[in-house]
Amino acid sequence: MKVWAVLFFCPTLLLSLSGFQDTFFSGFSYSSIMNEKIVIGRCDEDIILPCSFESGPEIVIHWNIKDKNNVHSYYKGTDHLETQDPRYANRTSLFHSEIHNGNASLSVSRLSLLDEGIYTCYVGTTTKYITNKVVLKVGAFHTPVMMYEKRNTSSFLVCSMPSVYPRPHITWKRDNTFVPESKTEEIGYLGPFHINSTINITESNSSYECAIENSLLNQTWIGRWTLADGFYKMQSEQISLSCQVIISSLLQNQDFSVTWSRVESQTSHDLAWYLSSSQNTIINEPRFSWNKELVNQSDFSMTLTDLTPSDSGEYLCIVSSSKYTLLTIHRLHVGLRHGIALWIIIVSTVSILLLLILSIICISQRCSNVSRGICCICHDERLGNGANPEENLTLKTSAVRK
Ligand SMILES: *[C@@H]1O[C@H](CO)[C@@H](O)[C@H](O)[C@H]1NC(C)=O
Ligand SMILES: *[C@@H]1O[C@H](CO)[C@@H](O)[C@H](O)[C@H]1NC(C)=O
Ligand SMILES: *[C@@H]1O[C@H](CO)[C@@H](O)[C@H](O)[C@H]1NC(C)=O
Ligand SMILES: *[C@@H]1O[C@H](CO)[C@@H](O)[C@H](O)[C@H]1NC(C)=O
Ligand SMILES: *[C@@H]1O[C@H](CO)[C@@H](O)[C@H](O)[C@H]1NC(C)=O
Ligand SMILES: *[C@@H]1O[C@H](CO)[C@@H](O)[C@H](O)[C@H]1NC(C)=O
Ligand SMILES: *[C@@H]1O[C@H](CO)[C@@H](O)[C@H](O)[C@H]1NC(C)=O
Ligand SMILES: *[C@@H]1O[C@H](CO)[C@@H](O)[C@H](O)[C@H]1NC(C)=O
Repeated sequence: MKVWAVLFFCPTLLLSLSGFQDTFFSGFSYSSIMNEKIVIGRCDEDIILPCSFESGPEIVIHWNIKDKNNVHSYYKGTDHLETQDPRYANRTSLFHSEIHNGNASLSVSRLSLLDEGIYTCYVGTTTKYITNKVVLKVGAFHTPVMMYEKRNTSSFLVCSMPSVYPRPHITWKRDNTFVPESKTEEIGYLGPFHINSTINITESNSSYECAIENSLLNQTWIGRWTLADGFYKMQSEQISLSCQVIISSLLQNQDFSVTWSRVESQTSHDLAWYLSSSQNTIINEPRFSWNKELVNQSDFSMTLTDLTPSDSGEYLCIVSSSKYTLLTIHRLHVGLRHGIALWIIIVSTVSILLLLILSIICISQRCSNVSRGICCICHDERLGNGANPEENLTLKTSAVRK
């Protein structure tokens, strides 16, 4: 290393003085192509740090980070990892079969944010010596989720980013107009961050959209929420609820999932879901059916049959890919069937009227023969007066029989 450091600095000085670029001492050449490459990797994924050279005999490769810690070394035809920084243990490899073709690229696996930095690739042969710098930047962007939540009478949307780095640019729109978020929660001091951005739904007939942009990874995710029209249906009827992805290009060449659920306060109950990658569909509710074949579709509308009043409530369709999430809400109200309701109204009205008539008769006529037995107050009054005409009659008849 020391010798190389001398070789590295001395020629630079001499070259700048003499103006020689290619030949130096008896046949040894040094090319000071300090081409600095920027490489962007993703957390938990692998990356190749590029480095190429003009091949020659006796190849020596040293990959260092921040000009001091050894990441990977190779000489005499094999790897030498005795001085390797333990953080890189089992995570680095060279393309051994390619080295003799001038490929000294280093593969680093399972990246973390700590791997960010400037890497130096020194490659020497008996005739040439090069140094390349590679700047590694690491970003994180686990697919966010949009959650629709209801508490008491207020409802709100949360765009939740489970793991993101650097801090993303978050924007909310209501009906295509920018609006500020209501609340942001963040965990993670240096990153990756776990961020929840919340907005209160103040106008429930509006549509809401949150866009999250990771500028380093040049990646954007959009979550969109819309409330479809409310529906009024009668018992035992059926309802067809729509769920369409208007910009169907957003799903092209993308794996996605579709979930239909019933939203209850603080929880939700899944009716059915579909996974595009396996074309697998699972239906938990026997009265549920998709309206269309799901293959190659952007329409995930469904039908629910045999409605009962307990089906009243909110229904949510979620279409989700790695770039886009669409939430469509439907409000459904199921009333009692017309026939049954009318019948119940007639029966109850008639009974009330009947009772009313009887009490009027009772009070005004003071227990006639007609009302007797129904009107007890009358009866009691009569008893108080002593003789009951019918009783007298029976007494009389029995007396006659005797
Ligand atoms: C080196 O080889 C690997 C594996 O074939 C390849 O992915 C990489 O692009 C090559 N790098 C250069 C600089 O040629
Ligand atoms: C690297 O791999 C070796 C053998 O597979 C294992 O013994 C060692 O614990 C590993 N080191 C790390 C840091 O994972
Ligand atoms: C919701 O209502 C309950 C009581 O009905 C109350 O205890 C709770 O604080 C309310 N929650 C919110 C978020 O307003
Ligand atoms: C959002 O709603 C919560 C309660 O539901 C309230 O405490 C908060 O002030 C609201 N925020 C905004 C910005 O309206
Ligand atoms: C974000 O919301 C989820 C689900 O409600 C919760 O589990 C998580 O703790 C929240 N994260 C933060 C940073 O508040
Ligand atoms: C939502 O409803 C309110 C009043 O009911 C109305 O003023 C507003 O224009 C509606 N917005 C949309 C997007 O339909
Ligand atoms: C970012 O991505 C878009 C589309 O995915 C592409 O058109 C654009 O060139 C990219 N920009 C950079 C700087 O990579
Ligand atoms: C779906 O679309 C792809 C490409 O657009 C096509 O190859 C395939 O045959 C289609 N499948 C069906 C069932 O229509």
